[in-house]
Amino acid sequence: MQKISYEAPGKFQESKFEKIHCLTFKSAIDGSKLVAREIANSIKSKKNKPFILGLATGSSPIGVYKELVRIHKTEKLSFKNVITFNLDEYYNISKDEPQSYSAFMNNHLFSQIDIPKKNINIPNGKTKENDIIDYCKDYEKKIIDCGGIDFQLLGIGRTAHIGFNEPGSNKNSVTRLIALDSITRLDAANEFNGLSMVPEKAITMGIGTIMNAKRIVLLAWGHTKSNIVSRTIEGEISSSAPATFLQNHQNTTFVLDEEASADLTKFKTPWLVKEFTWNDALKKKAIVWLSKKLNKPVLKLTQRDYNKNGLASLIANQGNVYDLNIWIFNELQKTITGWPGGKPYHDDSNRPERANPPKKKVLIFSPHPDDDVISMGGTYARLIDQGHEVHVAYQTSGNIAVSDEEAIKFLDVMDSFAEPNPKGIKIKDLKNQLINKKNDEADPKKIMKLKGLIRKNECIAAGRFLKLPEKNLHFLNLPFYETGFIKKNEPTKNDINITVDLINKIKPHQIFAAGDLADPHGTHRICLDILFNAIQLLKNKNYMKNCWMWLYRGAWEEWEIEDIEMAIPMSPAQVLQKRNSILFHQSQKDKVMFQGNDEREFWLRAEERNKKTAKLYNKLGLAEYEAIEGFKRFYF
Ligand code: F6R
Repeated sequence: MQKISYEAPGKFQESKFEKIHCLTFKSAIDGSKLVAREIANSIKSKKNKPFILGLATGSSPIGVYKELVRIHKTEKLSFKNVITFNLDEYYNISKDEPQSYSAFMNNHLFSQIDIPKKNINIPNGKTKENDIIDYCKDYEKKIIDCGGIDFQLLGIGRTAHIGFNEPGSNKNSVTRLIALDSITRLDAANEFNGLSMVPEKAITMGIGTIMNAKRIVLLAWGHTKSNIVSRTIEGEISSSAPATFLQNHQNTTFVLDEEASADLTKFKTPWLVKEFTWNDALKKKAIVWLSKKLNKPVLKLTQRDYNKNGLASLIANQGNVYDLNIWIFNELQKTITGWPGGKPYHDDSNRPERANPPKKKVLIFSPHPDDDVISMGGTYARLIDQGHEVHVAYQTSGNIAVSDEEAIKFLDVMDSFAEPNPKGIKIKDLKNQLINKKNDEADPKKIMKLKGLIRKNECIAAGRFLKLPEKNLHFLNLPFYETGFIKKNEPTKNDINITVDLINKIKPHQIFAAGDLADPHGTHRICLDILFNAIQLLKNKNYMKNCWMWLYRGAWEEWEIEDIEMAIPMSPAQVLQKRNSILFHQSQKDKVMFQGNDEREFWLRAEERNKKTAKLYNKLGLAEYEAIEGFKRFYF
């Protein structure tokens, strides 16, 4: 068997914990380019003999396909001698449907290269049920007859599936029909515009089929994959995490970005892996980890605790345990403040925010029209109470997350209140459009507007409750979001300019923004990118030199304690006030349309996360608060 064919210029650190060769890159683009280059070189090295290429679909390989197309166009790489076999296809779906993997491959690769049609093999998602067993046998045989797969590209699902080999798949499994795991279906809901539309089955190559490939490269990007990546690379082999079978393949490389690598031991607890130079951030991370591991407050950690848990080098480098413990205690203590806008006329040398100016202009960016209260409702209320000029910018309309039933309820109220209504809107027509709408259809423009208005007015009501006047609420309705589908457009200059204009108008001293990138539809990440782009354009302005930016989390995930640079405690009454402000967003209550893989309602997730943060602070040995909202500073 061919050995691992290149030593990539990635950031590769050996670690005794890793059972699969893996490379970490700064970004998915860098990693994808390298993999595309390996494929291109392998095709060339076959001269005119067939090269058998196993292909994957989904978000992970898109960058590789883009780069292969570029190499084909600019370097004249030919695919005439390439024979492809795709891993899988949804069942029962025709190749013409936009969500089919056939359509995906055409869009991203086949239509842009010179591969002969006869060389393309993708399982037929419309195979008759009675024919499936024979069909799958033929697929396997065809691979073998071609001489086996030379190079297999893979992604990995959150269930640790490769292909669609879900947990329970046997290591000798071959091409077959399989039922999709509920997590996999949830992850595909984006593409299908809702969970109920996602197929329940798929035809997939087996683990055995994949393991027979001569070379395997698995791609994983983003921190939603970090957990399963570390489980696969460092955990025990088990059919409950089918990708772990790759540990037994001699020529496999995982190509990762930094986020997908974050849970690998070498990054998560590097002190267990090798000697390195300690800095304050790592010291904090290590001592918090030790305290959590031993369930001991930081001030009670002993020299023996440090030594026995791989932190002897920290003491050797950093002096004695007593000083270290006091240092970390003070570091944590300094993050806690009841003054998120700074405490006016007080010494601020040990506080997270500046005292001056005493009254600040604060601009809170909220990707969806409820992230402000979900993630920082307590801090938002304090900023108003402490007399700062608070503005909230709702970046998107959030219209797709309003159910048809909710919209019909509002139409009914309008209908019974004024008939015929004064603006001449035919309410009954709108209601009929909603009732007759097909599942995969986007809302008509008027309905999108209505749903956006429902969310807008929920924000106004929550603002009124927190005593923020309507003129301080800014509804940006960023255009990238307005597709009517879960899948959004690429953001453009237009989105950035709208954001630039608002910042320029307000000239804030503080910007708060969502730094939780785990939201299942990616809207938070796009909104943050737009904001970063806007800030890049503005950062040389005088007022921006005096502007600090704080990132919050809460709707989808929470900061690690060691990342929190400002911790705002809440009393029981403030927790209740926050809960009530979230509950103004009634369209997002009860049967939430897009809830992700967390079954709790948003107010409950927020409350439990804030209480957990407070508990963690307390366990580390700090004061006991009811709840805490955490923020990390972003320097630009
Ligand atoms: C797709 C496939 C799947 C995906 C996996 C990850 O052909 O076989 O195993 O690779 O579900 O999907 P993404 O890349 O979309 O995260």
